[in-house]
Amino acid sequence: MTPAGEPGAQVQADLDRLLPLLDSALTVPFQKGAAVRLGEAVRYSLEAGGKRVRPVLCLLAAEAVGGTAAQALPGALALEYIHTYSLIHDDLPAMDDDDLRRGRPTNHKVFGEGHAILAGDALLTEAFRVLAAADLDPIRRAEALILLAEGAGWQGMAGGQALDLEGEQVAAYDLEHLRLIHRMKTGALLRASLEIGAVLGGADPAQRAALRACGAALGLAFQIQDDILDATATEAQLGKRTGKDAGRGKITYPTLLGLDGARRALAEATETALCHLAILPNRPSLAAWASYLAQRAK
Ligand code: IPE
Ligand code: IPE
Ligand code: MG
Ligand code: MG
Ligand code: MG
Repeated sequence: MTPAGEPGAQVQADLDRLLPLLDSALTVPFQKGAAVRLGEAVRYSLEAGGKRVRPVLCLLAAEAVGGTAAQALPGALALEYIHTYSLIHDDLPAMDDDDLRRGRPTNHKVFGEGHAILAGDALLTEAFRVLAAADLDPIRRAEALILLAEGAGWQGMAGGQALDLEGEQVAAYDLEHLRLIHRMKTGALLRASLEIGAVLGGADPAQRAALRACGAALGLAFQIQDDILDATATEAQLGKRTGKDAGRGKITYPTLLGLDGARRALAEATETALCHLAILPNRPSLAAWASYLAQRAK
């Protein structure tokens, strides 16, 4: 029996197989260069670990449509770069003002705000370089770059982070607005993770649409669980401060719906994600991941 909140056998097998592929490539572009301290700052956050959910989902999406993980690797790296940049900037004093991330002091606490901003800039830029320079079919590559921009940019993560910040100044807003923030700040990059994997793995249009829809639902579910964990888990479990949403007066799923209501919304979004997998030729891994992410303990 798998203990509650831990990865099951399928998820663990995927991690054992895919993490070495990712980890051997992740810091390679940031090893050499004149800006030594900037390279250190970038590697500090990349090497701190993290669950690697987005790159793994990207690789699994490619496999789910009959492609290979190797085909999707440049997309997976790009997604983890964007995600890591988003965390470094999310923790800055001008945003969530956090001092612990991935079990370590936050980037700006170690390297200073200027270098933390630039480490984020470097990761964001490298994400597009690594994908643009990859030896891929040119049409697939261009489509993946567009999806990355849509997931990361003002229609996606950056836009959602802006709405999240603006929300701190508002006494109350409704579930529909909160869902929009969650879909943008977190859902958009998870949606891009699955759709980029689909494109690089050679999905047909129906498979690609299914993975996009699955990713959108999974992304919403992921942020609902992040809100729940902020209210219920320990710092040691998460490697980041907890109770900070309440501390900053952020409106979250638990504040609007209560913990039980938030858990129901999480189960509903996960169920939607699972439904969209039905048409895929090779879906057991993604299905196992969707279920695991809904009950993850970190
Ligand atoms: C945390 O993401 C921020 C959100 C978008 C909810 P993760 O929970 O994937 O963070 P890491 O990568 O494991 O540190
Ligand atoms: C962050 O949401 C979403 C991002 C795009 C980084 P949170 O602010 O809730 O993420 P944590 O809890 O700090 O990881
Ligand atoms: Mg935030
Ligand atoms: Mg935060
Ligand atoms: Mg959070």
